[in-house]
Amino acid sequence: MSSALSPSRPAPRAHADERASRLLEHSRSLVRPALAEAIARLHPWVGEMAAYSLGWCEPGGAPVAAPAGGKGLRQALAVLGAEAAGAPRSAGVTAAVAVELVHTFSLLHDDIMDGDPTRRGRPTAWKAYGTGPAVLAGDALFALAVETLAATPGTGAPGTDIPSAVRHLSTALNDLVRGQADDLLFESRPWTGPEAVRPDEYRAMAEHKTGALLGCATALGAVLAGAPRETVAALDRAGRHLGLAFQVVDDLLGIWGDPAVTGKPVHADLLRGKKTFPVLAALGTPAGRPLARLLDSAGSLGAADARRAAALIEDAGGRGAATAEARRHIAAVEACLDGLPRTVRTGRTVRTTDDLRALLAHLVHREM
Ligand code: IPE
Ligand code: IPE
Ligand code: MG
Ligand code: MG
Repeated sequence: MSSALSPSRPAPRAHADERASRLLEHSRSLVRPALAEAIARLHPWVGEMAAYSLGWCEPGGAPVAAPAGGKGLRQALAVLGAEAAGAPRSAGVTAAVAVELVHTFSLLHDDIMDGDPTRRGRPTAWKAYGTGPAVLAGDALFALAVETLAATPGTGAPGTDIPSAVRHLSTALNDLVRGQADDLLFESRPWTGPEAVRPDEYRAMAEHKTGALLGCATALGAVLAGAPRETVAALDRAGRHLGLAFQVVDDLLGIWGDPAVTGKPVHADLLRGKKTFPVLAALGTPAGRPLARLLDSAGSLGAADARRAAALIEDAGGRGAATAEARRHIAAVEACLDGLPRTVRTGRTVRTTDDLRALLAHLVHREM
């Protein structure tokens, strides 16, 4: 199968993808009981909207016939990041619940901001329940995430540092809001000329809206377990670079992905005037002039303009440049992880960063 980043998929990659899928599945099953226990504390109607957003039920609360959840990347990063730091598994699971709740909250609100009607192959929460209720469900998930962390089980155990963990999560949330603000403001900036969005402005926006939470996810278990400052910093930096790569791939999938696989609409970013990396990269080259003419003349694009724009972005090298950008950030992730000990001994168990690295490699080639 081809991906947004590469036209073919050699056999060793299929093997690596299988390992990554197993790691994601393992973390989801490890975290699910604690996540369900947290959701059960919500007001029943709000809890139903949360369960719907997590892919656990249909609108109205009936159980789903087929699983409809997300990949569970952030919870896996929390579990594997804690493991890489030699933190207890319980710290990884608590961190995983908190970041998955924040992620779900951010998607609920993001779909309202972006006006998107589908996610994970189903109507978005605001489409299924209405905008007001979806805002409320997002608020509830946000509060639940903070509560989960503040009431970490085993409080008082030696080394547990809840205040630092709450601070770390709050910083990531502030960054996420900053990134979402810029993402929205960029919609009304012109495509060309002195007011156009520059690639470095895009990078700051994407690091904030996506990288901050991935960095937080990767480091939070270590923070909670009182790991050394350098370990926390390396994990957070790794997650932030991963977030940039992840967002650039999300941009690629938004133009060339298959909606049947991504579960999200295609060309929605182009139609809204989102300043995504492939477009900015294409506009930055002389070959991008026909694209610039189309985008500048069209005002807001229609579906046929968006298809034409996608072809012009590819012709001008925007797809290749975005792929290279994602790869550069994955290399930066590897460099951050190189700064950590490859193996960590906790009690009689030896933990390694290998699983974390296996997951990273897979994310560059993802198709959803
Ligand atoms: C989507 O994140 C939002 C972005 C930051 C790009 P994911 O692609 O991880 O979404 P799910 O949870 O797997 O649906
Ligand atoms: C999502 O960004 C970032 C947050 C939810 C904070 P996007 O808007 O680019 O992600 P998708 O494509 O809707 O998942
Ligand atoms: Mg969106
Ligand atoms: Mg958005």
